[in-house]
Amino acid sequence: MLRFSTAGESHGESLVALVSGLPAGVPVDQEFISRELWRRQKGYGRGGRMRIERDTAHILSGVRHGKTIGSPVAMTIANNDWKNWTDILPVEEGDPAKHKAVASPRPGHADLAGALKYNFPDARYVLERASARESTARVASGALAKLLLRELGVEVLSHVIRVGKAELSRPAKWEEIVALSQKDEVLLNCVDLEDEARMKAEVDAVLRTGDTVGGVFEVIVHGLPPGIGTHVNWDERLDGILAQAVMSLQAVKAVEIGRGVTAAESFGSTVHDAIGYEGSEEDFTKFSRDHNNAGGLEGGISNGQDVIVRGYLKPISTLRRPLASVSFETREPVKAAYERSDVCVVPAAGVAAEAMVALAVARQVLVKFGGDSLAETKRNYNGYLQQIRKY
Ligand SMILES: Cc1cc2nc3c(=O)[nH]c(=O)nc-3n(C[C@H](O)[C@H](O)[C@H](O)COP(=O)(O)O)c2cc1C
Repeated sequence: MLRFSTAGESHGESLVALVSGLPAGVPVDQEFISRELWRRQKGYGRGGRMRIERDTAHILSGVRHGKTIGSPVAMTIANNDWKNWTDILPVEEGDPAKHKAVASPRPGHADLAGALKYNFPDARYVLERASARESTARVASGALAKLLLRELGVEVLSHVIRVGKAELSRPAKWEEIVALSQKDEVLLNCVDLEDEARMKAEVDAVLRTGDTVGGVFEVIVHGLPPGIGTHVNWDERLDGILAQAVMSLQAVKAVEIGRGVTAAESFGSTVHDAIGYEGSEEDFTKFSRDHNNAGGLEGGISNGQDVIVRGYLKPISTLRRPLASVSFETREPVKAAYERSDVCVVPAAGVAAEAMVALAVARQVLVKFGGDSLAETKRNYNGYLQQIRKY
């Protein structure tokens, strides 16, 4: 079973990722992992922290001579900012005078609920783990899942379809999304330059006013055959699994599959994807569809079309002009604490969501095809593709 977990705090020494259940023999391209980490750091509207960090995953175990060996892969990603925090957040008791309390909880963060739950006098330790810095370890883990999926011809990418009120005004083609992922500069990761300029204007507006802005990203799984996930048990449906995976990301407040939201206000005759039998040699089966409003999932099972998952991000909670809060010490009204912050993270959140989607899909692919070695997984996979091609 493919599993992963992360450890680490925002200003601690290092983030840690542990991925187990990958078959042996998956080629591990370390430059690809670095590139994925770089993509998560980019985007217009990021704060100063991203200028300090140059994330690289250091692989400790599970990979030898360039390939996975079936044992758990352990990775660390150093926090360069740690050098400024060694006295503030030491592992040992240290000097309490140097600790840096988060003295008033920030609305929209885990600060207040976390301090109450863990019985902390302030929100420092809550902030440290709730911070989306943690998503770096998810991206390193997701890169391994992507390398496995790539061996089976499956790719996972994202693009931005909304920042604040500025929306992508046309459908995006897969080739455009691939081209975006290969660019060396990332603005707002939008396929249309004019729409991207309008998105940038939304970020510029909040930079001027000390506010923040949210948006919507879209993750696409391209090349996934029909039959991943199942309708037979509620917790094995791929739509539910993907929703949990993407919703678990910091600041994601809604998840949509295909045309999920607008489908609710439309007639069935215009929503469902009519079936034909005229697929070409490149398709998984001869069955074809007139469009893909279902986002590649019916009954919790992939249907062979692109899987399309959208994540809706609330605006970043830390405000340069902070909202009202209360002092942890005096219970008197004060402004919420401020720590260096991003004002827009939609492109980066899209990259983190790619990682979560890749991990979730890779897990279900392995549930279906198994394999202790990549050769075994591929044999099972190719046998199944032959079976459905004949259908
Ligand atoms: C890539 C990424 C970067 C983020 N950066 C910040 C940030 O700099 N400042 C901030 O206040 N929130 C940031 N967030 C969002 C918070 O981590 C998140 O809103 C907070 O932990 C509360 O969790 P919740 O919004 O899921 O309830 C970021 C989220 C993501 C996905």
